[in-house]
Amino acid sequence: MHDTLLLFGATGDLAQRYLFPSLLRLMGDGLLPEGFRVRALALSPHDTDKFRGILRERFASLSHYTPTAEQVEAFLERVDYRSVDMRTPASVADAVRDLADRPCVSYLSIPPGLYMSTCEGLALGGAFAAPSRLMLEKPIGADLASAREINATIGRLIDEDRIFRIDHYLGKAAVQNLLALRFGNALLEAVWNRNYIDSVHILVSESEGVDGRNSYYARSGALRDMVQSHILQLLCLVAMEPPASLEADRIRDEKVKVLRALRPFCAKEARRHSVRGRYTAGTINGEPVQAYSPPDDSDVETFVGVTAHIDNWRWAGVPFHLCTGKRMADRSTVVTVTLKPVTHWLFERPDRSNAVPNRLTFRLQPQEDIELGLMSSLAGPEWGTLELQPLELELSSETGQNRRIAYERLFLDAFHGNHALFVRNDEVEAAWAWIDSVVDAWREDNSPLQPYPAGSWGPEDATVFLPERFDAVARPS
Ligand code: BG6
Repeated sequence: MHDTLLLFGATGDLAQRYLFPSLLRLMGDGLLPEGFRVRALALSPHDTDKFRGILRERFASLSHYTPTAEQVEAFLERVDYRSVDMRTPASVADAVRDLADRPCVSYLSIPPGLYMSTCEGLALGGAFAAPSRLMLEKPIGADLASAREINATIGRLIDEDRIFRIDHYLGKAAVQNLLALRFGNALLEAVWNRNYIDSVHILVSESEGVDGRNSYYARSGALRDMVQSHILQLLCLVAMEPPASLEADRIRDEKVKVLRALRPFCAKEARRHSVRGRYTAGTINGEPVQAYSPPDDSDVETFVGVTAHIDNWRWAGVPFHLCTGKRMADRSTVVTVTLKPVTHWLFERPDRSNAVPNRLTFRLQPQEDIELGLMSSLAGPEWGTLELQPLELELSSETGQNRRIAYERLFLDAFHGNHALFVRNDEVEAAWAWIDSVVDAWREDNSPLQPYPAGSWGPEDATVFLPERFDAVARPS
C-alpha cells in the first residue's frame, strides 16, 4: 500500500481543520500502513519543529475526537515540513525528490491556478512514477476551458487511473446511502420517474459565512463553489440510471450521462428559473453577523437558487430545484422528492383542499434521517366519514455515531486505489459545461444580486427553490 503522503497546502484551512485530524484518527485506529509518513508542503518558511508545534496545538482543540498525547506524538514523528514555491516546478521537484523512490500519494489542497506547475514539479521530481497517485481537491478550474486545460495537462503527466478528484460530499456516509436507498428498494425504484415524480428539491444551506476564505470566494461564489460540485453530485445520485455494478467506472458512466443530459440554461429563463443573492448584516443564533463584502467589490453571489432540467426519458419535464447559500438560518442538506397527486380523489373535500402530495425527504445533514409523507385516516375519522390527514413516517438510525468523517473514508479509498467515490475527468467537465451556461445566462440577462439578511432563508423571490417545509419558514404568515 502507498505509505507516503505529500500534502501540498499543509498550512491551509482545509488541511488544518480536516486533513491532518483525519490522518491522525486513521493512524490511531491502526488503518494507515506500517511505514506511513507525511511530508507537509506550503509556502510559509516554517521548519519541521515549528510545523509540528502548529499541528500539536490544532490537535488539542479538536471537538469530534480526543487523541491521547502518545497518539499525537507518534503521529507527529511521521510528519516533516518543507517550504515550497508551487509556482515553480523546480522548487516542487527539489522538495520531493528524496521521497520519489517510495509509492507516494500527492494531495493538492491548493488553488487550482497552481495545479499545473505543481504537477509539473512532481513529475520532474519523480513523484508521479507508477504506482504513485494524485489526489486533487475541488474546484478543478473555474470554468470548462480551465478545467479542460488542467485535466489535459495533468493527464499528460500521470494516468487517469492514478488520479483521485475529490468531492468530499461523496465521502459522506449519508450521501452514499442515497445509492443504497435507491437501488436497494423496489418500492422506490418503481416510482422513480416522470410518471410519478412531480419535482425534486436539493438544498444545502449553511449558517457559516465566507469568513477566512475571502480571496478564493470572491472569485468563485456559490454557483461555482457548491453547485458545480456537491449539488450536481447529489443530483447525479438522485437521477442516474442503475449502474450495471458498483465498479467505479460503471457508477461514473451513469453520472456523466445525467450531467450531459442537463438542459443548458438560457438568458431568457434566468429571471424565472434562478435567483442570485448576497447576505447583508443579520443575526444567527442570537449573534449579530456582518454583511459579506468581497474585497474588490466583485459581483459574487453567496446564495443561488436555480432550476435544472434533465432532458432524458426518465426525467423529461421534472424540475430539479437546486439551492444553496451561506449565512442562512440553519445548516441543512436535504433532498426532497415530491410525488404527483393521485389521479382520482375519493375522499371528503372533492376540491382536494386537504390533500398533501406524498413526499420523500432525505435529510443528510446535520442529522441523518428519512421521512415519508403519506395521506392516512389513522388520525381517527368520525364514523361514516373517511377524511384523510397527512401522516409523517420517520426513519432515523443511530449509525451516524460510528461513521468515519468524509475525508477519512476518502483517504482510505485513495490509498487502496478505489475510485468509486472520486470524480472522473469527463464528469468534472460535463458539470462545468452546465455551470458555464448558467454563468453566461446571468451575464447576458444582467441578473441582479438580491440581498438577504444573514440568518434568513435567502432572498424573498427564492422560495420556489426551497423544499416545502423551508418555504413555509421563509414566508412568515
Ligand atoms: C466546501 C465549500 O467544498 O464545502 C465550502 O468550498 C463549504 O464553501 C463546504 O462550506 C461545505 O461542506 P460541509 O461538509 O460542511 O457541508
